Amino acid sequence: DTHEVRITTQDRSARCPADQSVLEALLRDDIWLPHSCTQGTCGTCKVRVLEGEVDHRDSSEYTLTSHERAAGIALGCQATPCSDLALEPAERVDPGDAVPRHPLRDHGGTVVLLDDIARDVRRLVVELDEPMGFNAGQYAEIRVPGTEVSRQYSMANPPSRSDRLEFHVKRTPGGVATDGWMFAGLRPGDRVELKGPLGDFGSNPPSGGAAIMIAGGTGLAPLTSIVRHVLAGESAPPLYLYHGGREQRDLYDAEFFRELEQHHERFTYRPCLSEQQWDGAMGAVTDVVLDDFASCKGLSAYLCGPPGMIEAGVKALKRRRMAPRRIFREEFPDAS
Ligand code: FAD
Ligand code: FES
Repeated sequence: DTHEVRITTQDRSARCPADQSVLEALLRDDIWLPHSCTQGTCGTCKVRVLEGEVDHRDSSEYTLTSHERAAGIALGCQATPCSDLALEPAERVDPGDAVPRHPLRDHGGTVVLLDDIARDVRRLVVELDEPMGFNAGQYAEIRVPGTEVSRQYSMANPPSRSDRLEFHVKRTPGGVATDGWMFAGLRPGDRVELKGPLGDFGSNPPSGGAAIMIAGGTGLAPLTSIVRHVLAGESAPPLYLYHGGREQRDLYDAEFFRELEQHHERFTYRPCLSEQQWDGAMGAVTDVVLDDFASCKGLSAYLCGPPGMIEAGVKALKRRRMAPRRIFREEFPDAS
């Protein structure tokens, strides 16, 4: 049982099974629609239903108010079709052509590395059976075997290695995917199922002006991908990478970034600790940024980590006069 889903702004359409979200059907057919979390929490994927009817499924009142529903708005990542549909993005955003788009696909792969790299943080490397094209900053959804549960993890490797995906995973106490699997029974040689690429974080890569990148915990993953990708290209803009942790044992890949600093004059690495004395930067990572920059006018920023850090970061950058449209963010709920 499938329905036709047409995006009027692009005059393209895809077939969507009755139990699949309209966003998923469009992305699988290589039709881009803005989206971020795919969990029904961020609201980026709002569409206006011009013709036909949708089932809102798990859309919460918090992300999609009853007022919006009555006005024909739906969450693309939650809504499934009850009939053929005509849709348009709720906000007229220019999808832009700064990056190529890669269709969403199912992938299988084998774990080739699983390493403890910091307190409660593991590096997971999966060799895919088929390469998965993606933009630096995007994520994949990994399936927990034997369950219906999937969780999102950002690629840390640059897109040039589309056959070998690296993830940084933080253990969430009591968490199904992390505590119950990736930090428990998962072993090198095991098979993994995932789908990707997903997310908007890779849609506006740094170009031209300097960029400040702020990571909390494993929020470093997509920023590592972006930094490596941008530095490998020609005429990289100045990049300032901040990584926040409580103690030294929360930091990882410090040697890698120090080495990168030696080779790239325009790259600066600033690890920050909030709860341990050391000879590096001290304090909440977002306070260190405030101290380092008298003005952020004309700069852009990429923030990734837990919601509290992102909120503090956005506030700090606006105080330093960064334009809100130049602030890009990816929130990791339940991970830091
Ligand atoms: P969950 O099972 O989801 O548990 C989350 C919390 O709920 C825990 O505190 C748990 O104790 C509690 N809980 C679980 N079940 C119950 C229950 N029945 N009743 C009450 N409480 C319960 N994380 C990373 O580490 N690295 C990344 O690169 C990364 N990228 C992400 C990208 C995106 C776009 C998003 C949205 C998230 C990303 N995350 C990342 C977070 C990640 O997807 C997971 O949310 C995180 O790993 C926790 O998953 P889990 O299954 O272990 O925990
Ligand atoms: Fe749909 Fe976030 S609410 S992508």
